[in-house]
Parts: sequence; structure tokens; C-alpha cells
Amino acid sequence: MKPTLTAREHYDRLAEMGNGLNDPPALLEFMARWDGPPFWNALGDTTKKDVLEVGIGCGRIAGQLLKLGCSSLTGLDISPKSIAAARSQLNEFSNLNLLVADVTEFNRPASFDVVYSVLTFMHVQDKRKALWNLVDSLRQGGQIILSIDKASDMFDFGDWLVPLHPWTPEQYAEELSSLGCKVNEFIPLIDNWSGPTGQKTETYGEQIATVVKATR
Ligand SMILES: C[S@@+](CC[C@H](N)C(=O)[O-])C[C@H]1O[C@@H](n2cnc3c(N)ncnc32)[C@H](O)[C@@H]1O
Repeated sequence: MKPTLTAREHYDRLAEMGNGLNDPPALLEFMARWDGPPFWNALGDTTKKDVLEVGIGCGRIAGQLLKLGCSSLTGLDISPKSIAAARSQLNEFSNLNLLVADVTEFNRPASFDVVYSVLTFMHVQDKRKALWNLVDSLRQGGQIILSIDKASDMFDFGDWLVPLHPWTPEQYAEELSSLGCKVNEFIPLIDNWSGPTGQKTETYGEQIATVVKATR
């Protein structure tokens, strides 16, 4: 029987394996299926904003955002080895704060203008607590942008399993509304990736994720 790992154990192992470090362009394009232009449009202009990324991983998205500009970017992640990798990849940015934390335990009242997260919330079991913390950490009028992928209950990595806790976009919207946020129309993320030799994934042309955006 395959062992079951926590998200922290899984991403610590991936970081140890060098995953997310100096990824080639084709892999970065593959990963951008879960953000890409619709996500970046939803994020908008961050140049004068204090931004929080939940589940920063090795800094794939944060690196792009820091190049575009922001007042500050705080990146939190439950995996210490991913945070170490992000630190080594993004060490040129003096406005970056990195911390090892579980989003369900993180709260900085009214400290951020934008909170975003990609490919992370399927790992978070207590989503109500996490969303409460994030909305509380936003300034009035601040925005939360979540890329929610279509996940199953279990991720089979080959040698081990990682349990997941999927919610539908509607569940996020309902919870954010109950926390007093105004929720925008959902933005679909369609898989239109094709590799260097024209190869396509089996989800090509399908919606693989949804951007949920809300304003406090
Ligand atoms: C698939 S990676 C995505 C990384 C990055 N957002 C990206 O898209 O490249 C998911 C990340 O979420 C982090 N994570 C999972 N559960 C978390 C939690 N409860 N609190 C904070 N980070 C968490 C993992 O350690 C991992 O680095």
C-alpha cells in the first residue's frame, strides 16, 4: 500500500528534488494553465499594493509579480523547504517577506490590499478558518483572488498519496459572501497548453480551474 503524506511532507520532498527551481519555459507554460492571462487580469495593477500570496511554493508566481511591481509581497507556505527555495530564487527583491506558516493559523488584521492563491486551497482542510483569516487580513476594499482547480479527494503522486479537500467555486463564493465580501462573476481557466512538439494534455480545451475574485 502506498504511504500517505501531508501537504507539508509532499512539498518538502518536491523542493528537495529541485522541483520549481529554474523550471524550463515549457514547464512554466504548462503550470500557467492555473493562472495565465485571465488570472493576471483579475489581479490587476499591484504596483502600489501590499500583496499576500498563500502557498507561494518556490516563488513561480511571486517572481513574476515582483518584476511587475508592488509595495511589498508577503509569501507564506506550510513547507519550510519550499520557502527556502523561494528565498534562494527571489533574493534580489528587498520588498519580499517569506514565512513558514499554515494559512489556517495566519492572521494580520487589515494589512494587505491584495491576497491571492493558486493551486493551494485544495490542500486546506479548514477552509472556513483560512478564508476568515484572509478576509480579516485584507484592508477594507481589498481583493482576494483564488485560482481553484478541479481536484479529486486524493492526489496520486506515484510513490505516495496526498489527500485533498476540494470545494466547488460556489462554496468559496458562498463563504466569502457570508464573510461580507462582494463576489465577482467566476472566471474560467481553459487548458490551451501545447508543448514544444505540439503535444497536448488530455484536458485540452476543457475548463480546468476557476478564478474566484471577491472584494472586502
Ligand atoms: C501546488 S503548490 C503551488 C505553489 C504556487 N502557488 C504555484 O502555483 O506555483 C501548493 C503550495 O501550497 C502550500 N500549502 C499547502 N497547504 C498549505 C497551508 N495550509 N498553508 C500554507 N501553504 C500551504 C504547499 O506547501 C505548496 O507549496
